[in-house]
Amino acid sequence: MSAKASQRAMHTVEAKGFKIPVVGLGTWALRGRECVRLTEQAIRIGYRHIDTAQMYDNEREVGEGVRASGLRAEVMVTTKVQPTMLAPHDLERSVKESLARLSLDAIDLLLIHWPNPRVPLAETLGAMAKMKREGYARQIGVSNFTVALLDEANKISSEPLVCDQIECHPFLNQDKVISACRRHGMAVVAYSPIARGGAYGNKVLERIGKARGKTAAQVCLRWLIQQGIVVIPRTSRVERLKENFDIFDFELSDAEMREIRGLARGGGRIVDWTWSPSWD
Ligand SMILES: NC(=O)c1ccc[n+]([C@@H]2O[C@H](COP(=O)([O-])OP(=O)(O)OC[C@H]3O[C@@H](n4cnc5c(N)ncnc54)[C@H](OP(=O)(O)O)[C@@H]3O)[C@@H](O)[C@H]2O)c1
Repeated sequence: MSAKASQRAMHTVEAKGFKIPVVGLGTWALRGRECVRLTEQAIRIGYRHIDTAQMYDNEREVGEGVRASGLRAEVMVTTKVQPTMLAPHDLERSVKESLARLSLDAIDLLLIHWPNPRVPLAETLGAMAKMKREGYARQIGVSNFTVALLDEANKISSEPLVCDQIECHPFLNQDKVISACRRHGMAVVAYSPIARGGAYGNKVLERIGKARGKTAAQVCLRWLIQQGIVVIPRTSRVERLKENFDIFDFELSDAEMREIRGLARGGGRIVDWTWSPSWD
């Protein structure tokens, strides 16, 4: 890795004493050899954070890519427990299975993927804390938690919750949940940070990028990290791995930050995460 790449790898967001690399690779929909290759390539480029989940059906390939990079000790790997596995016994079993698929020493960050209203949160958090105490996970956190759930979770968890991973990009106003995270000292991890490719072609983002030789996707990601938000863009193309990581050498002005903020609109959500009874 070049000196420049190693310098960029140092960028982290700290939450409750835990450092989260500010740019990670999202892996939803990456499968098979492509997933192994992209994971390994990303780490070679300088990524130090890889995001997977039980639901993505690629933990085995992510683990293989991390090991193939030869840089396991430097990389933070997140996986997430699926909502049908939140009862304590299921959670413990599924986390052990995740770790076996990943074939790593431990899961660096273990998240509850989506809340499940049919399982008491205290029971799930008790099992998550146990996974941490027993060394299966180094840190724990949540995903898709609302303000009310964040308040409840932080009150009852015996172990610190380091982040809430939520949909976050310029087309969606997430101010309330972001302030709740800040109030609880948690990091915000933005999923779908380029709006599933929706940043590409946006006139405002393109104009701002053009003035600096950057793309709309880079401006979009920069807007998030400049607010101290961690981003986990996904791509299946090596050249875009580089593009999405090359966001540390420019800064948006206050006026530009405000203008991008103005892109939020009602109905900007991409991922519908309302509870589905079919998950039972
Ligand atoms: N916790 C949750 O519930 C949850 C939900 C959704 C996602 N996630 C996580 O967040 C990660 C990222 O979110 P996402 O996959 O939904 O969406 P995303 O990262 O916002 O967008 C991915 C899409 O953008 C395209 N793309 C990537 N880089 C680009 C660039 N520089 N210019 C133009 N297009 C580009 C990709 O196409 P190409 O492959 O052709 O580049 C892909 O179609 C996921 O992979 C997953 O790890 C978590």
